[in-house]
Amino acid sequence: MVKICCIGAGYVGGPTMAVMALKCPEIEVAVVDISEPRINAWNSDRLPIYEPGLDDVVRQCRGKNLFFSTDVEKHVFESDIVFVSVNTPTKTQGLGAGKAADLTYWESAARMIADVSKSSKIVVEKSTVPVRTAEAIEKILIHNSKGIEFQILSNPEFLAEGTAIKDLYNPDRVLIGGRDTAAGQKAIEALKAVYAHWVPVEQIICTNLWSAELSKLAANAFLAQRISSVNAMSALCEATGADVTQVAHAVGTDSRIGPKFLNASVGFGGSCFQKDILNLIYICECNGLPEAANYWKQVIKVNDYQKIRFANRVVSSMFNTVSGKKIAILGFAFKKDTGDTRETPAIDVCNRLVADKAKLRIYDPQVLEEQIKKDLSMARFDWDHAVPLQQIKAEGISEQVEVVSDAYEATKDAHGLCVLTEWDEFKSLDFKKIFDNMQKPAFVFDGRNVVDAVKLREIGFIVYSIGKPLDSWLKDMPAVA
Ligand code: NAI
Repeated sequence: MVKICCIGAGYVGGPTMAVMALKCPEIEVAVVDISEPRINAWNSDRLPIYEPGLDDVVRQCRGKNLFFSTDVEKHVFESDIVFVSVNTPTKTQGLGAGKAADLTYWESAARMIADVSKSSKIVVEKSTVPVRTAEAIEKILIHNSKGIEFQILSNPEFLAEGTAIKDLYNPDRVLIGGRDTAAGQKAIEALKAVYAHWVPVEQIICTNLWSAELSKLAANAFLAQRISSVNAMSALCEATGADVTQVAHAVGTDSRIGPKFLNASVGFGGSCFQKDILNLIYICECNGLPEAANYWKQVIKVNDYQKIRFANRVVSSMFNTVSGKKIAILGFAFKKDTGDTRETPAIDVCNRLVADKAKLRIYDPQVLEEQIKKDLSMARFDWDHAVPLQQIKAEGISEQVEVVSDAYEATKDAHGLCVLTEWDEFKSLDFKKIFDNMQKPAFVFDGRNVVDAVKLREIGFIVYSIGKPLDSWLKDMPAVA
């Protein structure tokens, strides 16, 4: 029986391996992590991450051919293929701080693999890593190998949170990069055979190691760039009376451009886009390509601009002050159908409003109070580093922020409400009831263009939707920067 082990039971390791176990019943899959609470949660009825369909997959295989364990060394020792899916955060200190990927977790996993292995193994990079990481990993493994053969493959993951199970069942493609040697090609074939259990072989792309590593960074940079492009356009739409949804539709029907990823919003978030672009920028700089680096920097700058532009719009619309005003925040996760708050635009918007002395009442269907308060107390990039995350106490966050358990409670007596995540339930709220319970004039700032602005205006709200023609009220308010 082939044995697979995955180091890192996070948003990628957990769902990816669960689907692999489901689709390959004859393969034993162990997902291991140094975090005991995380593994305990994977072994409980309340999984550590919220992802539609995940519970069902885990329930079908856990205890049969899918195991979650903290006994990292035992499972690595026993396995033929070791996936490494640990976090690869942005460095916070030293050379490359604020840009380069911190490979501390990766390196320690590689050293451990070398230490405990007594048989040859295929080591698969599942984490997103800088191009040529495999070379460094190879050196660590080979120099500590005691004669054992390791083959390194790059197999970046393209799933999107919120649709992870669907994406894993039907990936657009699976990418496998390996060495151009006989042993490298044999390793590629072995991994290909695993995916071929459910992915058509013509959708399994095989490349050299460096192309696979770079393709993941490139894919995320292209996706984020589309969002920043449409968001930059949304600012121009507001200034000119054009409607960004109409513009995006007209642009996206060009088959060379395509309709996806053209929704204007308060900005992109998630653990990957910013981190991976910063990493790409750093690699361009290190390779003496400042023009290429500056091109990608702009994608992040526009995203920051969009978040601040939104928060400034809130303040300027409400007579240029939100001091002491109650503002309901609907949605804190970085997108719907996930409880993940890493780099969510809600953090920047909330922090900006708190700095302006607003009183926030926050509701998200999946994010816990403790997480929200931690997020609002943390320094940039700290969220993805294990130690600070554990040390952070949500004490810094004052009485300015309250987390509540439903949208009606959040909006009661509020002066304004901001929609920051596109949760479906926000579309069907009783806005008449909400209006009646809010202070007047009652403002809605829709950062995801999910509410029916026409209906809300009929009820009496002043509505701001991103990239849409402005209410006359908003037009008369001071310009936002
Ligand atoms: P995560 O932070 O949810 O999970 C990483 C896990 O690795 C943590 O549970 C941590 O305790 C564990 N870990 C760290 N060092 C370890 C070690 N030495 N031994 C055992 N366990 C260790 O991260 P996530 O989101 O799963 O991301 C993992 C990688 O996948 C990152 O490189 C990310 O960029 C990439 N990725 C993430 C996607 C996403 O949607 N979250 C999508 C595609 C790629």
